[in-house]
Amino acid sequence: MSNLSLNCENLKSFVTEQEINSFQKQVSLCHEKLEQGTGAGADYLGWLRLPSCFSNSIAAEIESAAAAVRDLCEVFILVGIGGSYLGARAGISFLSNSFPNQRNEHAAPEIYFAGHNLSSDYHADLFDLISARDVCLNVVSKSGTTTESAIAFRLLKQMVENKYGADGARDRIVVTTDSNRGTLKTLADDLGYKTFVIPDDVGGRYSVLTPSGLFPMAVAGVNVKELMAGARQGERLYSADSLDQNDAYRYAVIRHLLYQRGKTTEILATFQPAFYYLSQWWKQLVGESEGKDLRGIFPATAEFTGDLHSMGQWIQDGGRNIFETFLILESSRRQLKIPTSQNDADGLNYLVGETLDAVNEKAWRGTAVAHREGGVPNMTIKINDRSPASLGQIIYFFERAVAMTGYLNGVNPFDQPGVGFYKKNMFKLLGKPGF
Ligand code: PA5
Repeated sequence: MSNLSLNCENLKSFVTEQEINSFQKQVSLCHEKLEQGTGAGADYLGWLRLPSCFSNSIAAEIESAAAAVRDLCEVFILVGIGGSYLGARAGISFLSNSFPNQRNEHAAPEIYFAGHNLSSDYHADLFDLISARDVCLNVVSKSGTTTESAIAFRLLKQMVENKYGADGARDRIVVTTDSNRGTLKTLADDLGYKTFVIPDDVGGRYSVLTPSGLFPMAVAGVNVKELMAGARQGERLYSADSLDQNDAYRYAVIRHLLYQRGKTTEILATFQPAFYYLSQWWKQLVGESEGKDLRGIFPATAEFTGDLHSMGQWIQDGGRNIFETFLILESSRRQLKIPTSQNDADGLNYLVGETLDAVNEKAWRGTAVAHREGGVPNMTIKINDRSPASLGQIIYFFERAVAMTGYLNGVNPFDQPGVGFYKKNMFKLLGKPGF
């Protein structure tokens, strides 16, 4: 049973079934490259089997470290950027209460993030917020040398050491990094911090199903075994070669076809605030995996219905180089009904008794048809619920799809050579030795 479905009704006037199926041969070739490890970036295919290789002993290690942290602190700070931050944040927002730090159903610590920007105000405000609280840190960096997270970690580590001493800090700092390289690994070994490993063959943006994403989620109260069971279900469903049986590959082919027809921007549009960071994670996954060698779909995100009141005009009527993927939640956890009002001063009595979900659903359906009629091909991925299993499955779905689209477009979906350029200039301007 799948927790996801892909609906292509609003693509019919843009892409035919026959055109999609004509890609089967190319898909099979790319699939073989993924499965046999014979394509570009083959050293970074470890993510393919993370779900099926997840063992009870890894789960137990993550759960017990998370329990220790939860016992010790009121505030947990995840220090990281890019793939070492977005997956965890996506999972926590997807699964938590809408205001997780105000109303915490799992008695978990409040969770904050650092090192994903270089803002002085942000980090100073964070210090103010946490200085009188009991704090634990998890610094996540595969390379162990990323400037943003290294600076934030230096600041926060000193704060923790000043507060609890070196011994106390040891219990409160968890490091997630490479198995044997990088300054962070050396530092963690020297100071005796608890460490988790991001496997060598898993790149940052594909690392959410490693302790990089799983440990912070476990601290937030997420059942990581259920999450990985959903991911395993994804691995089973989306490892089929055939386009008839594999919706992740279907989605990949449709994206590729639309891209070839000049639809160079994909908007991932959601109608749930809980999906906001999942779309940010998706944006990074697509952006870094597909955007290279002067090609690739430009990934954009929209949060409806709010963005219908800002970007809606552009999407309906602007340049016709876009397509949309709606990410829709089948059923909310809780229902609110629209109440009656005696004088109907706001004119809403025609909706009395309707749930907010029902109104939101009509907003999505109305938008999808309007945009299709405005020349924007669109499709919908429906996700059953906000459960760990559904999350695990959608993560694997997108990873498979993006890897396939990258291969179809002739790029290496597992490197990010362009990211180094800004760093070189920044280091030169900062006077870093060797630059
Ligand atoms: O996907 C990637 O490789 C990047 O986004 C990295 O995750 C990001 O640059 C952070 O790198 P690191 O984990 O080495 O600190």
